[in-house]
Amino acid sequence: MIPQNTIASITEAARIEEVVGDFVTLKKRGVNFIACCPFHNEKTPSFTVSPTKNIYKCFGCGEAGSSINFVMEHENMTYPDALRYLAKKYNIHIEEIDDDKGREERQARDSLFIINHFAQEHFQHNLQHTDEGKSVALSYFRSRGFTDTTIEKFQLGYSIEDWDTFTNAAKEKGYRLELLKKLGLVGEKNGRYYPFFRGRVMFPIHGLSGKVVAFAGRTLKKDKKSPKYVNSPETEIYNKSKVLYGMFLARQAVRKQDDCILVEGYTDVISLHQAGIENVVASSGTSLTPDQVRLIKRYTPNITILYDGDAAGIKAALRGVDIILTEGMNVKVVILPEGEDPDSFVQAKGKTEFLNYVKEIQKDFIFFKADLLLKEAGDDPIKKSAVIQDLIKTLAKIPDPIKRALYVRECANLLDISERLIITQTNKIKYNQIQKKQNQQSLKEAQEAHLPASTQDLAEIERIANKKVVKQETTGLALCERDLVRLLLEFGEEFYDIDYYVAVYIIQQTLDLPPTNPTYNKMVQLYREHLEEGKTLSKDFFLEYQDPKINKAAIDLLSSPYELSENWKIRHEIFVTEIVKNFKPEVENLVNRYKLRWVLKMKDENQEKIKEAQKANDIDTSLALLKNQMQYEEWIKQLTTKLKGVIIR
Ligand code: CTP
Ligand code: MN
Repeated sequence: MIPQNTIASITEAARIEEVVGDFVTLKKRGVNFIACCPFHNEKTPSFTVSPTKNIYKCFGCGEAGSSINFVMEHENMTYPDALRYLAKKYNIHIEEIDDDKGREERQARDSLFIINHFAQEHFQHNLQHTDEGKSVALSYFRSRGFTDTTIEKFQLGYSIEDWDTFTNAAKEKGYRLELLKKLGLVGEKNGRYYPFFRGRVMFPIHGLSGKVVAFAGRTLKKDKKSPKYVNSPETEIYNKSKVLYGMFLARQAVRKQDDCILVEGYTDVISLHQAGIENVVASSGTSLTPDQVRLIKRYTPNITILYDGDAAGIKAALRGVDIILTEGMNVKVVILPEGEDPDSFVQAKGKTEFLNYVKEIQKDFIFFKADLLLKEAGDDPIKKSAVIQDLIKTLAKIPDPIKRALYVRECANLLDISERLIITQTNKIKYNQIQKKQNQQSLKEAQEAHLPASTQDLAEIERIANKKVVKQETTGLALCERDLVRLLLEFGEEFYDIDYYVAVYIIQQTLDLPPTNPTYNKMVQLYREHLEEGKTLSKDFFLEYQDPKINKAAIDLLSSPYELSENWKIRHEIFVTEIVKNFKPEVENLVNRYKLRWVLKMKDENQEKIKEAQKANDIDTSLALLKNQMQYEEWIKQLTTKLKGVIIR
């Protein structure tokens, strides 16, 4: 454990602009610094660093915090590790006081690292200084074109064939067999231990700090009985799905080139490095995991996937890419000529020709996928429609609306179908995604969470509950919901975001807060049912609907001006041409006002119930109600902040 006073000196010493500045290029803007946010994908900077407050905040994604938070988030470190990192940066000595559990865990991890380090040096020694190593393994690496510098750089090694060399050396050092076994360095057969990697050339796998977390061993035998590669098992220090081979050596270059080349094999990484292409990592033959994508995303939003030209390589290129898109990364695919892998290709062509090929052949993933699937489908209409569905699913995964819109346009051309159709479909998918999310954290859940309160809480709750809040007019909600439904009717089919209907936004945002007026309620419900099918509704739908109450309401709404916001004087034409600029804030504003009215109403009703419960001396009920009241207060606070500058009438 790190003592409190040390933590204090670390937080005092850490200057937020220096800490962030090590990872992000900051630009001075007044008293603050700004940059493009490292935590989400953006083109215009909304990430702000305030030296006076000693914090960072992103106005785009909401990430905010201190130097410690930044290091934890950005470098994926635990709290103590972030403290240690900052202490090192500011030359602060940490004298850790040990609590038992923390100490044990750290010691356990440390001993695994120590043993791996020993093993790595042992294998390296075998390769360089033993007869067997030199004759079988070193000659093998050389025959593959690896130079001594490369062999050194990747700390390549060799595990002697016999049963004793490695085990004896480890025993001599006093390492416990059970730890060696845990790390997968030894196996057990008939009560006897043997070196797991025996007779294999060794590729150490490094964590981000450069320590060896695991090994891969490649057989030198031609027979197909034993697998080509065997790997260490997962341990406290090795989580397969979070590690990318080569990242430790690649990360500077990845940041600098603003692109990460992704290959399959260890030898591909090594050969590319040797050729002077260093921004390269390997997924080690498995499909990419979300954690690995996030690891890359820390350094760049761009990935170039380089795979073999055979069918398996192409399949692998398709796999896992939807994950990359979900993370908002830009993905390009390069397929190598038949029979080549990155290793053989770069060795044959050299750096310049290799990079030229990549540049020329690389294709945006979406188009790569579209092309490939369409070719497969041929003229078969059923297959073709399946391809379209598949692509639409992929498109819906792109989080950035502008980027998505561009792809939608290109794909519409490519597939020879209307843009509108694709948008309708992606909206349908997105609508269902959001609905799932909202169901999970619905308002009702919050209301039902009547946690037992302590007497101390009680005093606090009472204080807040009795505080006067924004005074509301009784007509407030009625006016507001009228405006909202009118907005839905008039502009529901317009785009809230580049390819995101206003209707989708309104309905999703107000799912738990239906209009109190029964006719409006019915109208919203109708709209929702159609959105679930991916359809929007025109004004005519309501004007011609078989319920006269709804016809009348629609006529009424469409023929009267908005009640609440003067800004609605902006005319329809402007919305169409400058949708993103003008429309979004207006819609958002109205929805937030509506929500605020609703919560104010719930709060008032709740207040009445509290009074009744207190009159009846029903402690349990009034406690629960007071808890609700606090929740309402919180929502009101949040909404008022969002509406800051907008006067409530
Ligand atoms: N792989 C594995 N186990 C195997 C085969 C492959 O873990 N039995 C992983 C390894 O990470 C390997 C990658 O898949 O690097 C790619 O496999 P392959 O192309 O067969 O190997 P190369 O890396 O090209 O190895 P080499 O050039 O030595 O044949
Ligand atoms: Mn290969």
